[in-house]
Amino acid sequence: MRPRRFSAQGPLKGRICVPGDKSISHRSIMLGALAVGETRVTGLLEGEDVLSTAAAMRAMGATIERQANGDWLVAGVGVGGLLQPTGALDMGNSGTSTRLLMGLVASHPITACFVGDASLSKRPMGRVIDPLSQTGARFTAYPGGRLPLIVEGAATPVPLTYRLPVASAQVKSAVLLAGLNTPGVTTVIEPIPTRDHSERMLRGFGADLSVEIDSDGARVIRLSGEAELKPQTITVPGDPSSAAFFVVAALIVPGSDLVIENVGLNPTRAALFDVLRLMGGSIEELDRRDVGGEPVADLRVRASTLTGIDVDPAVVPSMVDEFPVLFVAAAHAQGRTVTRGLEELRVKESDRITVMRVALEQAGARVQETEDGLIIDGTGGEGLRGANNQPVATHLDHRIAMSMAVAGLASQGGVEVDDTRPITTSFPVFEQLIASATAA
Ligand code: S3P
Repeated sequence: MRPRRFSAQGPLKGRICVPGDKSISHRSIMLGALAVGETRVTGLLEGEDVLSTAAAMRAMGATIERQANGDWLVAGVGVGGLLQPTGALDMGNSGTSTRLLMGLVASHPITACFVGDASLSKRPMGRVIDPLSQTGARFTAYPGGRLPLIVEGAATPVPLTYRLPVASAQVKSAVLLAGLNTPGVTTVIEPIPTRDHSERMLRGFGADLSVEIDSDGARVIRLSGEAELKPQTITVPGDPSSAAFFVVAALIVPGSDLVIENVGLNPTRAALFDVLRLMGGSIEELDRRDVGGEPVADLRVRASTLTGIDVDPAVVPSMVDEFPVLFVAAAHAQGRTVTRGLEELRVKESDRITVMRVALEQAGARVQETEDGLIIDGTGGEGLRGANNQPVATHLDHRIAMSMAVAGLASQGGVEVDDTRPITTSFPVFEQLIASATAA
């Protein structure tokens, strides 16, 4: 455990640049490893989750190397060319690595054993085992459909038509990735849209993929199998889910005026910024541009008086990872914020509804937990009392640690976080950027 106390250090000022998007980084390594030839990735997130994906793809035959200038080169084996790994694939804390790679292995004639840390070993894998079993792959999982688990890929996989029962980009992507080495057309029907990085990048690598909206408004994604992927040069935009912590910190720490550069604003990811603007947050987009086929801008964020709102449950999939830090913003707003439809938060790296309720209460916030969300009565702008006597428990969840660090920066007495190590899974330079933004 690496505990740390986060306390008020004055306004956040100047300019910071957020590291590469985690979702896009995972996919660039995976698809690069399945193309024939060399893919170059600039701006890859060098967080532990992405490094777990890289290690697994190496174990299945790809060559993946970091260059002196920070670019990554991936020499792929071609779709169908994954090799039998010799040992277990250690997924660490990463649900995205696990679920997407289960899809890839499912349609290759290899067997792979997936293991992970205590948090990942509690998370449900049935949601990918169910569809992938229908391709002919076989799964042996720990009771409850958990890790450790073994996937025996199908030698002659069958294409799926699968309607997503949960709004999950990981499940969608697992089925699509299985479809890459499957003859025929794999179809995913997505009633509620989720992040579309897999679709964008599969197309970018030359896969035959179409998206149509059916008469019920659902997205129908069709991928032709036995694809040949062509190597690409990819620039990864900055991660909006990482920028989120600095956006909220700058809104709630009085006197802040911070520019956050290179923030990805793919509409399937950026709802937090809209919600914060509805609450009265001053978030300005500067120099909107395109990076690697994704919209990007620099965000200028100024400390603002926030007002509580009812958050429309329809936006949940496009800010699913941002609720912990939205709860922190809500705890500083005037009046009540109500969130609903957050059942999926209970199966993330931790149960983010209960864990945030407990942590915020400990820091002095007024919070009620419901089955599918939190109701928060804010302070009206004052910093929370703080949680000094007892560290808040983060349960191996990077986003809980960073959210409570942000609460600490605005607090009267500081917030002690029990373990900051998990932050390196998604945002290794988080603490450095706090130091530079508060020193500027
Ligand atoms: C991700 C999808 C989301 C998100 C996760 C990354 C992805 O999970 O929470 O951090 O890269 O596809 P779900 O698809 O399970 O909602």
